[in-house]
Amino acid sequence: MKRRFRVWRGDASGGDLRDFDVEVNEGEVVLDIIHRLQATETPDLACRWNCKAGKCGSCSMEINGKPRLGCMTRMSTFEENETITITPIRTFPVIRDLVTDVSFNYEKARETPAFAPPAGVAPGEYRMQQVDVERSQEFRKCIECFLCQNTCHVIRDHDENKPAFSGPRYFIRAAELDMHPLDSLEDRKEYAQSSQGLGFCNITKCCTEVCPEHIKITDNAIIPMKERVVDRRYDPLVWLGRKIFRRDQLENMAPSSTVGVAGTSGGVPNSSVRPPENAPTGPDGHLDVSELLAPQQGGMSPFGDDMTFPMAPEQVTYHHPDPDRPAGH
Ligand code: SF4
Ligand code: SF4
Ligand code: FES
Repeated sequence: MKRRFRVWRGDASGGDLRDFDVEVNEGEVVLDIIHRLQATETPDLACRWNCKAGKCGSCSMEINGKPRLGCMTRMSTFEENETITITPIRTFPVIRDLVTDVSFNYEKARETPAFAPPAGVAPGEYRMQQVDVERSQEFRKCIECFLCQNTCHVIRDHDENKPAFSGPRYFIRAAELDMHPLDSLEDRKEYAQSSQGLGFCNITKCCTEVCPEHIKITDNAIIPMKERVVDRRYDPLVWLGRKIFRRDQLENMAPSSTVGVAGTSGGVPNSSVRPPENAPTGPDGHLDVSELLAPQQGGMSPFGDDMTFPMAPEQVTYHHPDPDRPAGH
Protein backbone atom coordinates (compact mmCIF):
# COMPACT_ATOMS: atom_id res chain seq x y z
CA MET A 1 0.00 0.00 0.00
CA LYS A 2 1.30 3.46 -0.93
CA ARG A 3 1.45 6.24 1.65
CA ARG A 4 2.10 9.99 1.25
CA PHE A 5 5.39 11.37 2.68
CA ARG A 6 6.68 14.93 2.78
CA VAL A 7 10.47 15.01 3.19
CA TRP A 8 12.59 18.13 3.66
CA ARG A 9 15.33 18.40 1.05
CA GLY A 10 17.97 21.08 0.95
CA ASP A 11 21.17 22.31 2.57
CA ALA A 12 22.49 25.23 4.61
CA SER A 13 21.41 27.68 1.91
CA GLY A 14 17.74 26.58 2.03
CA GLY A 15 15.34 23.89 0.96
CA ASP A 16 11.73 22.78 0.95
CA LEU A 17 9.38 19.86 1.53
CA ARG A 18 8.97 17.39 -1.34
CA ASP A 19 6.05 15.00 -1.70
CA PHE A 20 6.53 11.29 -2.33
CA ASP A 21 4.14 8.33 -2.50
CA VAL A 22 6.01 5.32 -1.15
CA GLU A 23 5.13 1.66 -0.69
CA VAL A 24 4.76 0.69 2.98
CA ASN A 25 4.75 -2.91 4.23
CA GLU A 26 3.59 -4.36 7.50
CA GLY A 27 6.05 -3.99 10.38
CA GLU A 28 8.12 -1.22 8.77
CA VAL A 29 9.55 1.84 10.49
CA VAL A 30 10.13 5.35 9.10
CA LEU A 31 13.80 4.58 8.42
CA ASP A 32 12.68 1.71 6.13
CA ILE A 33 10.73 4.23 4.07
CA ILE A 34 13.76 6.51 3.79
CA HIS A 35 15.82 3.55 2.61
CA ARG A 36 13.11 2.70 0.05
CA LEU A 37 13.14 6.29 -1.18
CA GLN A 38 16.94 6.13 -1.55
CA ALA A 39 16.62 2.84 -3.42
CA THR A 40 13.96 4.12 -5.82
CA GLU A 41 13.20 7.81 -6.35
CA THR A 42 15.91 9.82 -4.53
CA PRO A 43 19.26 8.02 -4.34
CA ASP A 44 20.96 11.19 -3.10
CA LEU A 45 18.65 11.75 -0.10
CA ALA A 46 21.02 12.27 2.87
CA CYS A 47 20.17 10.59 6.17
CA ARG A 48 22.43 9.53 9.05
CA TRP A 49 21.89 6.07 10.52
CA ASN A 50 23.92 3.11 11.74
CA CYS A 51 22.22 0.43 13.83
CA LYS A 52 18.50 0.46 12.93
CA ALA A 53 17.98 -0.85 16.45
CA GLY A 54 17.56 2.32 18.55
CA LYS A 55 21.06 2.05 20.01
CA CYS A 56 23.46 4.24 18.02
CA GLY A 57 21.52 7.50 18.33
CA SER A 58 22.24 8.50 14.71
CA CYS A 59 18.82 8.60 13.06
CA SER A 60 17.34 11.54 15.01
CA MET A 61 14.80 13.49 12.96
CA GLU A 62 11.48 15.26 13.39
CA ILE A 63 8.49 13.18 12.31
CA ASN A 64 5.25 15.14 12.05
CA GLY A 65 7.04 17.79 14.11
CA LYS A 66 7.97 15.45 16.96
CA PRO A 67 11.67 14.70 17.62
CA ARG A 68 12.09 10.94 17.27
CA LEU A 69 14.37 8.15 16.12
CA GLY A 70 13.47 7.13 12.52
CA CYS A 71 14.36 3.50 13.25
CA MET A 72 12.08 3.28 16.29
CA THR A 73 9.00 4.93 14.82
CA ARG A 74 6.65 2.28 13.48
CA MET A 75 4.51 3.12 10.47
CA SER A 76 1.58 1.42 12.22
CA THR A 77 1.45 4.30 14.73
CA PHE A 78 0.07 6.66 12.03
CA GLU A 79 -3.46 6.85 10.64
CA GLU A 80 -3.87 5.12 7.27
CA ASN A 81 -4.54 8.33 5.35
CA GLU A 82 -2.11 10.47 7.34
CA THR A 83 0.64 12.34 5.46
CA ILE A 84 3.95 11.81 7.26
CA THR A 85 6.27 14.81 7.31
CA ILE A 86 9.97 14.20 7.92
CA THR A 87 12.30 17.12 8.68
CA PRO A 88 15.83 17.43 10.12
CA ILE A 89 16.24 18.20 13.85
CA ARG A 90 15.78 21.92 14.10
CA THR A 91 18.23 23.10 16.77
CA PHE A 92 21.39 22.27 14.86
CA PRO A 93 22.55 23.58 11.46
CA VAL A 94 21.55 21.52 8.43
CA ILE A 95 24.36 19.97 6.41
CA ARG A 96 22.11 18.30 3.84
CA ASP A 97 18.55 16.94 3.80
CA LEU A 98 18.04 15.11 7.12
CA VAL A 99 21.66 15.40 8.27
CA THR A 100 22.56 18.13 10.76
CA ASP A 101 25.82 19.32 12.29
CA VAL A 102 25.63 18.22 15.93
CA SER A 103 29.20 19.21 16.83
CA PHE A 104 27.82 21.62 19.47
CA ASN A 105 27.17 18.56 21.61
CA TYR A 106 30.70 17.24 21.26
CA GLU A 107 32.08 20.64 22.26
CA LYS A 108 29.94 20.53 25.40
CA ALA A 109 31.12 16.97 26.06
CA ARG A 110 34.73 18.14 25.85
CA GLU A 111 34.05 20.98 28.31
CA THR A 112 32.64 18.60 30.93
CA PRO A 113 35.47 17.52 33.25
CA ALA A 114 35.97 13.76 32.95
CA PHE A 115 35.61 11.19 35.72
CA ALA A 116 38.50 11.69 38.16
CA PRO A 117 39.35 8.62 40.24
CA PRO A 118 40.76 9.14 43.74
CA ALA A 119 44.55 9.40 44.03
CA GLY A 120 46.29 6.13 44.77
CA VAL A 121 43.59 3.86 43.35
CA ALA A 122 44.63 2.18 40.11
CA PRO A 123 42.17 1.13 37.38
CA GLY A 124 40.99 -2.36 38.28
CA GLU A 125 41.08 -1.56 41.98
CA TYR A 126 37.88 0.47 41.98
CA ARG A 127 35.25 -1.07 44.23
CA MET A 128 31.66 0.18 44.37
CA GLN A 129 28.56 -1.01 46.16
CA GLN A 130 25.83 -2.32 43.84
CA VAL A 131 23.46 0.33 45.16
CA ASP A 132 25.85 3.06 43.96
CA VAL A 133 26.08 1.44 40.54
CA GLU A 134 22.30 1.32 40.27
CA ARG A 135 21.82 4.98 41.17
CA SER A 136 23.59 6.24 38.08
CA GLN A 137 22.82 3.31 35.76
CA GLU A 138 19.80 5.08 34.33
CA PHE A 139 22.00 7.90 32.99
CA ARG A 140 24.44 5.44 31.41
CA LYS A 141 21.62 4.31 29.07
CA CYS A 142 22.03 7.53 27.05
CA ILE A 143 22.65 6.76 23.35
CA GLU A 144 23.61 10.38 22.54
CA CYS A 145 20.83 10.85 20.02
CA PHE A 146 20.64 14.53 21.11
CA LEU A 147 16.85 14.57 20.81
CA CYS A 148 16.73 16.14 24.28
CA GLN A 149 19.26 18.79 23.21
CA ASN A 150 17.19 19.43 20.08
CA THR A 151 13.99 19.83 22.07
CA CYS A 152 15.21 22.07 24.89
CA HIS A 153 13.78 25.51 24.23
CA VAL A 154 16.75 27.21 25.93
CA ILE A 155 18.80 26.56 22.79
CA ARG A 156 16.08 25.62 20.28
CA ASP A 157 14.59 29.11 20.41
CA HIS A 158 17.72 31.02 21.48
CA ASP A 159 20.81 30.16 19.50
CA GLU A 160 22.67 32.81 21.48
CA ASN A 161 22.36 30.71 24.67
CA LYS A 162 24.52 27.94 23.24
CA PRO A 163 27.85 29.21 24.67
CA ALA A 164 26.44 29.35 28.20
CA PHE A 165 24.20 26.26 28.22
CA SER A 166 25.35 22.65 27.99
CA GLY A 167 21.86 21.13 27.80
CA PRO A 168 20.03 18.18 29.35
CA ARG A 169 22.34 15.47 27.99
CA TYR A 170 25.23 17.03 29.92
CA PHE A 171 23.15 17.68 33.03
CA ILE A 172 22.62 13.92 33.30
CA ARG A 173 26.37 13.45 32.88
CA ALA A 174 26.98 15.91 35.74
CA ALA A 175 24.36 14.16 37.89
CA GLU A 176 25.87 10.76 37.13
CA LEU A 177 29.34 11.91 38.19
CA ASP A 178 27.92 13.74 41.20
CA MET A 179 26.44 10.40 42.36
CA HIS A 180 29.66 8.51 41.61
CA PRO A 181 31.29 7.54 44.93
CA LEU A 182 34.78 7.42 43.39
CA ASP A 183 34.68 10.75 41.54
CA SER A 184 37.08 13.07 43.31
CA LEU A 185 36.75 16.17 41.15
CA GLU A 186 34.94 19.35 42.09
CA ASP A 187 31.36 19.41 43.23
CA ARG A 188 29.49 18.55 40.03
CA LYS A 189 26.19 20.23 40.89
CA GLU A 190 27.96 23.50 41.60
CA TYR A 191 29.80 23.13 38.32
CA ALA A 192 26.47 22.50 36.57
CA GLN A 193 25.05 25.65 38.11
CA SER A 194 27.99 27.98 37.60
CA SER A 195 29.40 26.69 34.29
CA GLN A 196 26.86 24.49 32.47
CA GLY A 197 23.92 26.88 32.72
CA LEU A 198 21.70 24.73 34.96
CA GLY A 199 19.96 27.95 36.05
CA PHE A 200 18.61 28.47 32.51
CA CYS A 201 16.53 25.28 32.79
CA ASN A 202 12.99 25.97 33.93
CA ILE A 203 12.02 22.30 34.29
CA THR A 204 9.59 22.09 31.39
CA LYS A 205 10.35 18.35 31.09
CA CYS A 206 10.29 18.46 27.27
CA CYS A 207 13.69 16.74 27.24
CA THR A 208 12.33 13.83 29.31
CA GLU A 209 9.33 13.52 27.01
CA VAL A 210 11.40 12.87 23.87
CA CYS A 211 14.13 10.65 25.35
CA PRO A 212 13.96 7.28 23.52
CA GLU A 213 15.73 5.61 26.45
CA HIS A 214 13.05 6.89 28.85
CA ILE A 215 15.66 8.51 31.10
CA LYS A 216 13.91 10.70 33.67
CA ILE A 217 16.23 13.61 32.87
CA THR A 218 14.29 16.25 34.76
CA ASP A 219 13.02 14.28 37.77
CA ASN A 220 16.13 12.23 38.47
CA ALA A 221 18.99 14.52 37.38
CA ILE A 222 18.05 18.18 36.96
CA ILE A 223 15.64 18.65 39.87
CA PRO A 224 17.83 16.85 42.46
CA MET A 225 20.84 18.93 41.38
CA LYS A 226 18.84 22.15 41.53
CA GLU A 227 17.50 21.22 44.97
CA ARG A 228 20.94 20.52 46.37
CA VAL A 229 22.32 23.78 44.93
CA VAL A 230 19.47 25.65 46.63
CA ASP A 231 19.95 23.67 49.87
CA ARG A 232 23.48 24.97 50.09
CA ARG A 233 22.68 28.52 49.05
CA TYR A 234 19.99 28.83 51.72
CA ASP A 235 21.63 26.72 54.41
CA PRO A 236 20.91 28.44 57.78
CA LEU A 237 24.60 28.18 58.73
CA VAL A 238 25.53 30.00 55.55
CA TRP A 239 22.91 32.63 56.30
CA LEU A 240 24.31 33.04 59.83
CA GLY A 241 27.87 33.31 58.48
CA ARG A 242 26.78 36.09 56.16
CA LYS A 243 25.25 37.96 59.08
CA ILE A 244 28.31 37.55 61.34
CA PHE A 245 31.15 38.29 58.91
CA ARG A 246 31.76 41.29 56.68
CA ARG A 247 31.90 40.66 52.91
CA ASP A 248 35.67 41.33 52.75
CA GLN A 249 36.24 38.76 55.50
CA LEU A 250 34.12 36.20 53.65
CA GLU A 251 35.90 36.84 50.38
CA ASN A 252 39.26 36.21 52.01
CA MET A 253 37.96 32.91 53.34
CA ALA A 254 36.20 31.70 50.20
CA PRO A 255 37.97 28.94 48.29
CA SER A 256 38.17 29.41 44.53
CA SER A 257 39.98 27.48 41.87
CA THR A 258 39.71 26.62 38.20
CA VAL A 259 41.95 23.55 38.42
CA GLY A 260 40.68 20.83 36.12
CA VAL A 261 38.10 23.03 34.43
CA ALA A 262 38.33 23.31 30.64
CA GLY A 263 36.72 25.56 28.04
CA THR A 264 34.91 28.78 28.68
CA SER A 265 33.98 27.51 32.13
CA GLY A 266 37.56 28.01 33.23
CA GLY A 267 36.94 31.74 33.25
CA VAL A 268 37.02 34.10 30.30
CA PRO A 269 39.51 36.98 30.56
CA ASN A 270 37.86 40.39 30.85
CA SER A 271 34.39 38.88 31.18
CA SER A 272 31.97 38.55 34.04
CA VAL A 273 31.95 34.74 33.84
CA ARG A 274 32.73 33.52 37.35
CA PRO A 275 34.98 30.46 37.50
CA PRO A 276 33.57 27.47 39.38
CA GLU A 277 34.56 27.02 43.01
CA ASN A 278 36.77 24.32 44.35
CA ALA A 279 35.59 21.10 46.02
CA PRO A 280 33.89 21.84 49.33
CA THR A 281 36.10 19.49 51.35
CA GLY A 282 39.66 20.07 52.57
CA PRO A 283 42.58 17.62 52.27
CA ASP A 284 41.31 15.85 55.41
CA GLY A 285 37.97 15.21 53.69
CA HIS A 286 36.09 17.58 56.00
CA LEU A 287 33.96 20.51 54.95
CA ASP A 288 36.01 23.67 55.28
CA VAL A 289 34.49 26.26 57.59
CA SER A 290 35.12 28.91 54.93
CA GLU A 291 32.86 26.96 52.58
CA LEU A 292 30.01 27.36 55.03
CA LEU A 293 30.57 31.06 55.44
CA ALA A 294 31.49 32.12 51.90
CA PRO A 295 29.13 34.57 50.21
CA GLN A 296 28.61 32.42 47.13
CA GLN A 297 27.52 28.90 47.98
CA GLY A 298 26.36 26.40 45.42
CA GLY A 299 27.36 28.43 42.39
CA MET A 300 26.43 31.83 41.11
CA SER A 301 22.82 32.95 41.01
CA PRO A 302 21.96 34.30 37.55
CA PHE A 303 20.29 37.22 39.33
CA GLY A 304 23.20 38.26 41.56
CA ASP A 305 23.52 37.88 45.29
CA ASP A 306 21.55 40.79 46.65
CA MET A 307 18.41 40.46 44.53
CA THR A 308 14.99 40.16 46.13
CA PHE A 309 12.00 38.54 44.44
CA PRO A 310 9.72 39.09 42.64
CA MET A 311 11.88 41.20 40.33
CA ALA A 312 10.47 44.06 38.31
CA PRO A 313 10.55 43.19 34.55
CA GLU A 314 13.02 46.02 33.81
CA GLN A 315 15.45 44.49 36.30
CA VAL A 316 15.55 41.12 34.59
CA THR A 317 18.86 40.78 32.79
CA TYR A 318 18.71 38.03 30.21
CA HIS A 319 21.87 36.92 28.44
CA HIS A 320 21.53 38.06 24.87
CA PRO A 321 24.40 39.02 22.58
CA ASP A 322 22.23 41.37 20.55
CA PRO A 323 22.65 44.72 22.34
CA ASP A 324 19.68 46.20 20.46
CA ARG A 325 17.22 43.88 22.13
CA PRO A 326 15.58 45.35 25.22
CA ALA A 327 16.24 43.66 28.58
CA GLY A 328 13.91 40.77 29.36
CA HIS A 329 13.54 39.66 25.71
S1 SF4 B 1 13.52 20.58 31.54
FE1 SF4 B 1 15.22 22.04 31.38
S2 SF4 B 1 16.76 20.99 30.14
FE2 SF4 B 1 14.81 19.87 29.87
S3 SF4 B 1 13.89 20.79 28.02
FE3 SF4 B 1 13.08 21.91 29.78
S4 SF4 B 1 14.44 23.69 30.04
FE4 SF4 B 1 15.52 22.20 28.74
S1 SF4 C 1 19.37 11.70 27.38
FE1 SF4 C 1 17.92 10.56 26.08
S2 SF4 C 1 17.30 12.08 24.51
FE2 SF4 C 1 19.13 12.89 25.50
S3 SF4 C 1 20.83 12.22 24.19
FE3 SF4 C 1 20.60 10.67 25.83
S4 SF4 C 1 19.22 9.11 24.97
FE4 SF4 C 1 19.03 10.92 23.65
S1 FES D 1 19.82 3.91 13.36
FE1 FES D 1 20.74 3.68 15.35
S2 FES D 1 19.32 4.66 16.64
FE2 FES D 1 18.31 4.67 14.73
